This record gives sequence, structure tokens and C-alpha cells, in this order.
Amino acid sequence: MDKKINWQYEEFQQVGKDYGRPEEVAVYDDSHAEFREVDAENQAILDELELRAGAVLVDLGCGTGAFAVQAAPYCRHVHAVDVSEAMLMYARDKAKHAGVTNIAFHHAGFLTYLHEEAAVDAIVTTFALHHLPDFWKGIALQRMHRLLKPGGKLFLRDVVIPEHNALQHIAGFIAKQAEAGGDFLREDAEAHFREEYSTYDWIMDGLLFRAGFTIDTKCIQEGVLATYKCTRKR
Ligand SMILES: C[S@@+](CC[C@H](N)C(=O)[O-])C[C@H]1O[C@@H](n2cnc3c(N)ncnc32)[C@H](O)[C@@H]1O
Repeated sequence: MDKKINWQYEEFQQVGKDYGRPEEVAVYDDSHAEFREVDAENQAILDELELRAGAVLVDLGCGTGAFAVQAAPYCRHVHAVDVSEAMLMYARDKAKHAGVTNIAFHHAGFLTYLHEEAAVDAIVTTFALHHLPDFWKGIALQRMHRLLKPGGKLFLRDVVIPEHNALQHIAGFIAKQAEAGGDFLREDAEAHFREEYSTYDWIMDGLLFRAGFTIDTKCIQEGVLATYKCTRKR
């Protein structure tokens, strides 16, 4: 499905929070620092991936580029992909300030990124896949499968909800966000569940499996924050 078709999902149109707006991008890192330890999270991802020397990695939905910049010294090349020009501009600037020169930035998304080089060692995508409805998540995961070498790793972190007590978990998470960052983070979290496409974990498990991944580890924290480490199995 690499050819654009008339009925393809329009992934450049943001749903929920509009990360195309420079005003949103400007506050992103500071607001996320209120509830995430971003550097430590990124380091843990890199430790998990155990990248070989000379590895090539793709970061899908790279946002402000925090992971791509931190990953760059561990890789021969990083491809940082996002549908938001404003995010990419911010991320490019971050890389420049860090003196990092081995990141290629791509204005594209899960459904439109065309990788014109050899299959890659690893894909990382954090808090981005929920921008697609479930059918298109499936297509996106099939594309990620094709992008990876056999045995390549997919690290996926996103808001994914276990079915049991789902509504309580969501309410608990929203309350925790409000505690961490007042009305801004409460409204942010409410809008997430109201307007974006977070799904059940059994759906995500199935989509990963059907796309050809083995789920090596899966962990759900704070009721709704899921981390999957997967391997391309064939
Ligand atoms: C919540 S931010 C996450 C950014 C970063 N990965 C992080 O963990 O902080 C979501 C990002 O996904 C991007 N995005 C939304 N839809 C996308 C798509 N279809 N393909 C790729 N990126 C997308 C947004 O522009 C935004 O930069």
C-alpha cells in the first residue's frame, strides 16, 4: 500500500491535539517533563534495543526529536519521521544544537514514509500510533514489518488500554495527570481519550501478531501506558 489511494487515511491531518501548531510544539518538551523522565526513558529504550555497531534506526512520530537525538550516537544513521513540519523544524534545531549530524528528517508518517534504503535494525515509535484508527494501525504495523530486517526490533510505547476496568484505569490516569500538571495536563489527557484512537491491548496484541511480530515483552504501567518490545519474526 505504498501507492497513494483515494481512500487512504489522511494522516497529515492531526486528530486531537494539533501538533502542527508551532504553539503546541513550543510547550511540548516542558509539559511532558512534568510527567515523564524523557532522558531516562530514552536511555532505557536504547539499553533494551542493544543496537549493534553500525545500526540504522527509524523513529516514527519523532515529535521534538528527543529520542532521535539521544539515539544518534548509538547508530550509524537515524531516520526521524513526523507528519508535523513544526515538530520537524524543532527537532532539526535540537539536533543542530547537540552537534548531531547523522539524523535524516522526513516529513511523512506511518502510512506514507517511503524508506529508500536497506531494511533497518530497529524501529521506535512512542506515543504516536494512537493517531491512527485501528484498521490503519494494522496497515502501519505491516509497513513497519516490511521496513525491518528479519530479526529486527520494534519498540512501541503508547496509550493502550486493558479491557478489564478500562474506564477506571482511564479515570485514574487522568487524575494522575491533573496532579502532575494541573488543568493543562488534565485537559490534555481528557482530549486524548475523547478524540484520539487509543485502543484495547488485545487489539494491539492481535495487530502486532498478524503483522508478523513476536511480542518479546509487554508491560502496562499506570493502567494505560503500554510498552511492547517485538521482533520481526519472518
Ligand atoms: C504525542 S507526540 C509524541 C512525540 C514523541 N515520539 C514522544 O514520545 O514524545 C505524537 C507525534 O506523532 C506525530 N504524528 C501524528 N500522526 C502521525 C502519523 N500518522 N505518522 C507519524 N507521526 C504522526 C505528531 O505530529 C506528533 O509529533
